[in-house]
Amino acid sequence: MATMARSRARRSAKLLVFTGVVAILTCGVLLCSRCHEASAVPAGPVHHGSHARRFLLGAVGSTLGAAASFQVSPSRAASLLGFDVSFLDPPAPPDVASVPPDAEVLPSGLATKLLLRPTCALSVSMPLNSEECVQSRAREFDKVQIDYIGWQPNGRMFDSSRLEKRSVRVNSVMPGWTEAFQMMSPGEKRRFWIPASLAFGDTVTDQTRPAGPLVFDIELYNVERQPKPPTELTAPPADATFTSSGLAYKVLKPGTGQQRPTPDSNVTSLYNGWSANGDLILSTSFGAQPTFVLKEIPIKGLLEGVQLMCEGETRRFWIPAELAFGEKPEGKGLPGGVLVFDYRLSTIN
Ligand SMILES: *[C@@H]1O[C@H](CO)[C@@H](O)[C@H](O)[C@H]1NC(C)=O
Repeated sequence: MATMARSRARRSAKLLVFTGVVAILTCGVLLCSRCHEASAVPAGPVHHGSHARRFLLGAVGSTLGAAASFQVSPSRAASLLGFDVSFLDPPAPPDVASVPPDAEVLPSGLATKLLLRPTCALSVSMPLNSEECVQSRAREFDKVQIDYIGWQPNGRMFDSSRLEKRSVRVNSVMPGWTEAFQMMSPGEKRRFWIPASLAFGDTVTDQTRPAGPLVFDIELYNVERQPKPPTELTAPPADATFTSSGLAYKVLKPGTGQQRPTPDSNVTSLYNGWSANGDLILSTSFGAQPTFVLKEIPIKGLLEGVQLMCEGETRRFWIPAELAFGEKPEGKGLPGGVLVFDYRLSTIN
């Protein structure tokens, strides 16, 4: 009797432990879908708003897409809950200590070694600089999906995506990464030795950004093409035209229509919008709504601007913060500061 009771007790204790582990992992997965900011990544939040919900559809869509594509490893889930799971990480490769002789050193000082060939040149007989490979490389304003591990020369691993893909804009990260991404094609994995001047510098400024040279293994999964942003993102150029409200514009392509839309017009448009830091905040190429009633536009300056246009016209608008979401918007994730829009009014329906 006593034995049976004991074994039952042991079984229910096991069940409890098992349930606990499942709960911990589930929490980890839930938490993980929210925390995908890489510490090696200085900037580049994904914007999604609540007021401007419908209009910001594209941006929200891409956030959800990114969250859904994460593969959460148990070690990541556990580390989120505060356990030290560094023993689950792979040991540092011996060559993180210094640039080995078989690495290629680039003019900037960045050094690199190929670890996995890209899809465009899977076999050794296919050159890495073929037309196809060069075409498939990331450009500075594109986004890339990557996995990475970062070490200091002493072998300390200070950061890792722990096998969750991260999506970052090529030009929003440390200079060493920006250069690194632009030499990689999808499927490629490389080790990079990044001098301090192309990383976080020689002096420690915060805990998550180590000083000195750094070594990264980076695997590039995918390049998300982004439209090239205008060169003047922070302020309108000297030849822009201003309206009395402070809105600035330049006609990029004159239209053919006679009519101009009113706030009640139902219009179909193509547009790309950027914030001053270069983030693409809204784009009909990435799911933002093309057809809507003009007054639904939550950006005052854009609502004003589109009413100046005729069918078939393309304009570039520089919208000052006070005609957009302000300098520091309260709405979570809304872009602050100047916004720039390339806007084509296709039809007034
Ligand atoms: C706007 O026009 C399109 C195309 O004619 C139509 O499908 C849509 O229902 C209209 N939307 C509104 C809100 O009137």
